[in-house]
Amino acid sequence: MSSQTSLKVLVVGSGGREHALVQACRESPLCREVIAAPGNGGMAGDITCFPVAADNLEGLARLASEQEVDLAIIGPEVPLSLGLADRLRENGVLVYGPGKKAARLEGSKVFTKELLEKYGIPTAESATFTRSADALNYLGERARYPVVVKADGLAAGKGVLIAGDREEAEKAVRACLDERKFGDSGGTILIEEHLTGEEASIHLMVSGTSFVVLPTSQDHKRIGDGDTGPNTGGMGAYSPAEVVDPESLEVVRDRIIQPSVDAIAAEGLDLLGTLFIGIMLTESGPRVLEFNVRFGDPETQVILPRMETDPLELMLDCASGKPLTKELQIRPEPALCVVIAAGGYPKSYRKGDLIEFPPKTPTNAFIFHAGTSTDREGRIVTAGGRVLGVTVLAETLAGAAQQAYALCEEIRFADSYYRRDIGAKQLSREP
Ligand code: AMP
Ligand code: GLY
Repeated sequence: MSSQTSLKVLVVGSGGREHALVQACRESPLCREVIAAPGNGGMAGDITCFPVAADNLEGLARLASEQEVDLAIIGPEVPLSLGLADRLRENGVLVYGPGKKAARLEGSKVFTKELLEKYGIPTAESATFTRSADALNYLGERARYPVVVKADGLAAGKGVLIAGDREEAEKAVRACLDERKFGDSGGTILIEEHLTGEEASIHLMVSGTSFVVLPTSQDHKRIGDGDTGPNTGGMGAYSPAEVVDPESLEVVRDRIIQPSVDAIAAEGLDLLGTLFIGIMLTESGPRVLEFNVRFGDPETQVILPRMETDPLELMLDCASGKPLTKELQIRPEPALCVVIAAGGYPKSYRKGDLIEFPPKTPTNAFIFHAGTSTDREGRIVTAGGRVLGVTVLAETLAGAAQQAYALCEEIRFADSYYRRDIGAKQLSREP
């Protein structure tokens, strides 16, 4: 590596999360240059993007060597599960992100459930099945409804079904185990107790046994206002998630965060990266819904802008396996992000529509690009389901929401869609 204080950074991925990571790197005094692969239309305006897909391990290894990359930050879960971090480390690149072994914490829900149970970390009760006859039997004799049916492996956020009754649950079981709707990802399933309460996203940066807790946040997973319609990758977020008040955060830290980091280390899983714990705050205390081993999207788009401590410095320490000793400094202002999607998402949608942007973006606002690219004339056009993330940092959450929505109105493309109620649950609780 050339010099620790003058890094060339490669960000792998093409979403709003990765654009926020690129932005954080560009603002860091430790960064000499940031490049992305494959990147998107928004990043391409500021940095060099290389057309290498995020799951092309050999292509990325070659790119990192040719470009003499010091540090790679891997955004999405698929390349982590395929072992991209291991592949780059073999070439001497520092990597923020777990190797294949620790990526199982996201890549296999059964693996994580067993770890949680082994270490007594609170989570929903569940049973594991590979044969549909056994699962159907369980649904008839043991299950209480609603019940949750989960494909074991990665399924791009579509592998979880909350079944209201036995018939629906049986359909989900057959779809996974008999019809192989999710391929091998659904060859093993979990049937899980349905939890009720409010969800929150807890992000940690982990370097072995040491960690920092990043600002809390809350996602909005459903496509429609009032949390209706199908699940999406996430339609908006805000931070902090006030439902996780300081007292609850202490409980979460004692019962979930610390034991999880300890358990992961005790199992010899070298996690040099993000641990994103999805939790449900139930009446009987917080429970783990899932582990992810990468930043949430859109959560990252509200977390990073609130960090006063340089995120790149922390990521570099993680990647180098150094303990994280710094006290985290967080801006007090809340942040809110509204995702603008292409009409039709999460089902089929059009691509290639021209996007019109506001003439000026205020300094407290960020328009993060996700599904965008540039056309032949260099204009920004739509290229994905979630197209943009509009984040605003303001004195109050209400102010952030108002300013974010005002900006959304100035961004135009054919058939654009966004939820009108991001942050509404939190705002209704505020005095
Ligand atoms: P997962 O990928 O496991 O986080 O599940 C995706 C979403 O499904 C979560 O964010 C929750 O909204 C919901 N979910 C997952 N597990 C449960 C559960 N046991 N009870 C209620 N909702 C759940
Ligand atoms: N926003 C949820 C996720 O990134 O998984």
